[in-house]
Amino acid sequence: MASHVAGICELEAVVVRAAARSQGFGTQLIQAVAAWGQALGATRLELEVRPSNTPALRLYQRLGFTHDGTRPAYYHNPEEDAVLMSLDLSAR
Ligand SMILES: CC(C)(COP(=O)(O)OP(=O)(O)OC[C@H]1O[C@@H](n2cnc3c(N)ncnc32)[C@H](O)[C@@H]1OP(=O)(O)O)[C@@H](O)C(=O)NCCC(=O)NCCS
Repeated sequence: MASHVAGICELEAVVVRAAARSQGFGTQLIQAVAAWGQALGATRLELEVRPSNTPALRLYQRLGFTHDGTRPAYYHNPEEDAVLMSLDLSAR
């Protein structure tokens, strides 16, 4: 799930069924969202992720997302900060 407002795309959620992980589907989903955003003229793709979510962090870093900061106590149950990340779509 993703949204696009005023040149910025936001990745709202990405989920691959547990049995289908580590086969490249997550990578393909993010790449499809990036292409979708570019087609709409977006220059950035932004997202938030839990720092404890190692598989997602590795996926985003491998695809070139940069760490832009943190949002304290963003998540609940359990409470956790959010890592803010973005991908520059203008240079692709
Ligand atoms: C995060 C998530 C979407 C990743 O999806 P995925 O389909 O497993 O992602 P990929 O397969 O593209 O990449 C995962 C790993 O598999 C590896 N991989 C990809 N294709 C592969 C293949 N054919 N053979 C072996 N390994 C492969 C990737 O290199 C990557 O390795 P790394 O973690 O060491 O970098 C998935 O773990 C998920 O749904 N998690 C739960 C929901 C969630 O946390 N979403 C993110 C919230 S912000």
